[in-house]
Amino acid sequence: MTDRTHTTAVNDTTGAPLWLLAELTYRCPLQCAYCSNPLDFAAVKEELSTEEWMGVLAQARAMGAVQIGFSGGEPLVRQDLETLVAEARRLGFYTNLITSGLGLDEARIKALHAAGLDHIQISLQASDPDVAAAVAGSPKAHAKKLAMARAVKAAGYPMVLNVVLHRHNIDRIDDIIALCDELGADAVELANCQMYGWAHLNREGLLPSHEQLESAEATTARWRERLAERGRDMRLLFVVPDYYAERPKACMGGWGAIFMTVAPDGAVLPCHSARMLPMSFPNVRERGLHEIWYDSEPFNRYRGDGWMREPCRSCDERHKDVGGCRCQAYLLTGDATATDPVCSLSPDHHLIEAARRQAEHGERPMADLTLRNVHESRIFCRA
Ligand code: SF4
Ligand code: FES
Repeated sequence: MTDRTHTTAVNDTTGAPLWLLAELTYRCPLQCAYCSNPLDFAAVKEELSTEEWMGVLAQARAMGAVQIGFSGGEPLVRQDLETLVAEARRLGFYTNLITSGLGLDEARIKALHAAGLDHIQISLQASDPDVAAAVAGSPKAHAKKLAMARAVKAAGYPMVLNVVLHRHNIDRIDDIIALCDELGADAVELANCQMYGWAHLNREGLLPSHEQLESAEATTARWRERLAERGRDMRLLFVVPDYYAERPKACMGGWGAIFMTVAPDGAVLPCHSARMLPMSFPNVRERGLHEIWYDSEPFNRYRGDGWMREPCRSCDERHKDVGGCRCQAYLLTGDATATDPVCSLSPDHHLIEAARRQAEHGERPMADLTLRNVHESRIFCRA
């Protein structure tokens, strides 16, 4: 598909991208079964060089971006991470590192601190080493993560721990929060697995039942009370999975509204999942970020509400949730212009209800999960 350049009325009202997600690499020492990277990540070979990333940072900052997240894969795999963090800081970004903690050591923590890194978010798989190993495909990772979380805290960073919840760890949420408390976290994101990428492939094995979800929310609420009684300032954010909501989220704050992702090979996307959509995204190796953001066809395609179909087109809530998530609509219906089936008004909502019903029944052994891996990824690779 060729990429048309056009100027529309939407263009005139498009604001600057405020958030840049720099996906430095798809390489990662872990194999999480819920990884949001594309299934065909192995097709991406030529990562942007340090100089190319420097150019991306400068362009994004000049356009008004203020927040940058360095992520992946595992961004610590890139040995130039500290250089890029220092450059982002020099340009005036607020810098975030989103990491598994693997590849971190005391020396790198010091180097990142010296580079001016503002914020680190470390992911944990579980409280239990066996569950963590089964879901991430690494028996040693859990202990390393705990050691690095302690080191990050000791270095004086405000520490956010992110725990992806799913049917195999959600019943241990009491232990998970206790562990985060013991590690000294300042905030914990208890983020129920969203079904993109490898998580969508493993949906049946990951989606918790309604009962599991309710029980976890109640446990979290009890923990909030206990923490408050102790005067302990550890924020707990519980993110409900889309599949148990009645209305969709305004994904990314709207398509091409505030959020821009640059993938490891320089593809520029409105969100981290979009490269699986049947459209061709522009690349920073060929076009400038300003032109891509304001004038490229993919970025303009789902801006505003002109693209919407019924029931969204005439719905009073369309400016609140922008019709939901384009990637989820495509994954579930094969049509990226469809109303996100999460919405109870969607004609496809039965797909969500069927997934919920399925989650109520049956054993789903962890061993049946497909861990993210290069071999499988090659099977998904487009020619
Ligand atoms: Fe949102 Fe569309 Fe559902 Fe209305 S019909 S609530 S706009 S997703
Ligand atoms: Fe791509 Fe929601 S994840 S639009």
